Parts: sequence; structure tokens; C-alpha cells
Amino acid sequence: PYHNQITEHIVRYKNYNFPAGMTTAEYIDSLQSFEIRDSDIFLVTYLKSGTIWTQQIIISICELAGGLNEYPNNMEQMPWLEFCEGQDYSKRPSPRLFSSHLIPSFLPSGLKEKKIIYVMRNPKDNIVSYFHFSRKSSVAGSVLVLVSLLKSFTVGGSSWFDHVREWHLNRDQYNILILTYEEMILDLKGAVKKICTFLGKGLSEAAIIQVAEKSKFENMKKNPKANYEFIPQDKIQGNFMRKGQIGDWKNFFTAEQSQRVDRLLQEKLGDLSLRFIWE
Ligand code: A3P
Repeated sequence: PYHNQITEHIVRYKNYNFPAGMTTAEYIDSLQSFEIRDSDIFLVTYLKSGTIWTQQIIISICELAGGLNEYPNNMEQMPWLEFCEGQDYSKRPSPRLFSSHLIPSFLPSGLKEKKIIYVMRNPKDNIVSYFHFSRKSSVAGSVLVLVSLLKSFTVGGSSWFDHVREWHLNRDQYNILILTYEEMILDLKGAVKKICTFLGKGLSEAAIIQVAEKSKFENMKKNPKANYEFIPQDKIQGNFMRKGQIGDWKNFFTAEQSQRVDRLLQEKLGDLSLRFIWE
């Protein structure tokens, strides 16, 4: 029923691209019936929106709340559901923490009404972050130029607009907390508190401060479990923690390119009344 074409770098699944070697179309299809447990925690993002940052926050909260199993690093602690790489997640002990870049219809149907944390980032910074990442990453498929990224606004498999749109239109089907990268930058402690409350973890004020401290850019960058430098050099050359700021797009976009994104936003998401912080 679906189009399955594997090129050197890409697995195609229903018009979406996934990095070959990390998953297959059959596996993504099988996720529909993947069994969800009440204790599962899901983080969903478009790529380069603050995934590994929010992973660090969630993992730190769960560690302090107690009962978390130990894994060597954040990627193994909170793996991407769509990237199986020979693992069988159904055998993992609870509580399981998952990350995902998938759109709602590709995720397990049992996830409906379950807790999901969704993080989004303003599209201009999102694309600049991906632009740098793609230049260093063979996983990203190819060396891309900003202009072509802007043309399609499709990076690493799906369009930013589709992702944000699908998640907002389907939000009522899930128990979802939507956060933005920018609000996390502006008030990290406040964001930690929100996530903590949403997950029903009653941490003390001191513990919340501790989580925020561990999740700061400089501290995460030094933390070998969290900075993703453990990824083999030939795959992604330690480029997950780059700048960590709002507004870097201003160093790369022309006024015309910026207006083009504004127009696209209006055209594709105007009806959702989303507000973004640009600087
Ligand atoms: P930049 O490339 O703009 O620096 P993802 O984890 O989804 O791949 O997103 C990566 C982006 O999140 C990168 O953005 C990275 O620097 C940023 N990031 C990672 N950890 C962060 C932190 N603790 N604080 C702020 N930004 C962080």
C-alpha cells in the first residue's frame, strides 16, 4: 500500500524520507500496532527544534523523581522510536522514554490520549540549525544549501509546515504539552517546571533548579552523556550542540528570504494563529 523506495541514503515511506540504515519502511509501518504503556513518555519534535535539550530535561526530571533504568547516554535512554537499529523496544523495562520526529498518523495508534511533549522552534532558526547540521552529517543525506532548504522547507524527511500543522490539528487526540524552543531559552526553569507538572513528577524547588542547571547549554555541552559527541564521528560529527540561541537566522537570511518565510507562514499556517519569538 505504500511507496517503498530505498536510495543510498534515504528510505521512502508515504512521501516521507528517513535515513537509510536506521530504519525501514516496514518497521515504520509496524509502529501502528506498537504497544504503548501508561508509563511511557514521548517527546515529539521536528528535527533541530531542541530535541536533545528536552531529552536532557525529561531524563533529569525522571532521574531525580526515581525509578529510571540506567543507560550509557541520553540517546540510549530516550531513543527515537522510528530508529530501531536492531533493538526491540517492546522488551525494554518501564518506564520507557521515547523521542520521535514523526507526524501523528505515523505514531502508534495506542498513543492517543497519552502524554506527549511537543517542542517547536521558529522556522527561521530551525532551518539555519539544520543547514549547519546537514553540512556535517552524512545522515542528513546530502550537503544542502540554505536556498534549496528554503525553497522546499523540507528537511530530513518532512516539511516543517506539515509537521507543525499536523500536530496542532491533532492535538486534541493526545494529552499534549506544547512548548517552544524560544520559551525554553527565555525561562528554562519555568519550562522545567511545566514539564515536571505535566509528567506528574512532584519535584522540590531545589530539584527543579538542579534540572535547569544540568540542562543549560554550557553544562550540557560538557556532559558526555548528553552532548551527543558519543555518536561515531563518521556519522554525525559532533554537531548537535552548536550555538543554542534565538535569532541566529539574522546572520544568514536576506531580507527577501525572511519575508518569504513570513509569507509562507501566513499562507500555510495562518489559520492556526501561532505566535513565534524571532529574537
Ligand atoms: P543550533 O544549531 O541553533 O545551535 P535537535 O536536538 O532537535 O537536533 O536541535 C539541535 C539544536 O538545539 C541546536 O541548535 C543546538 O545547539 C540546540 N541545543 C541543544 N542543547 C541546547 C541547550 N541546552 N540549550 C539551548 N539550545 C540547545
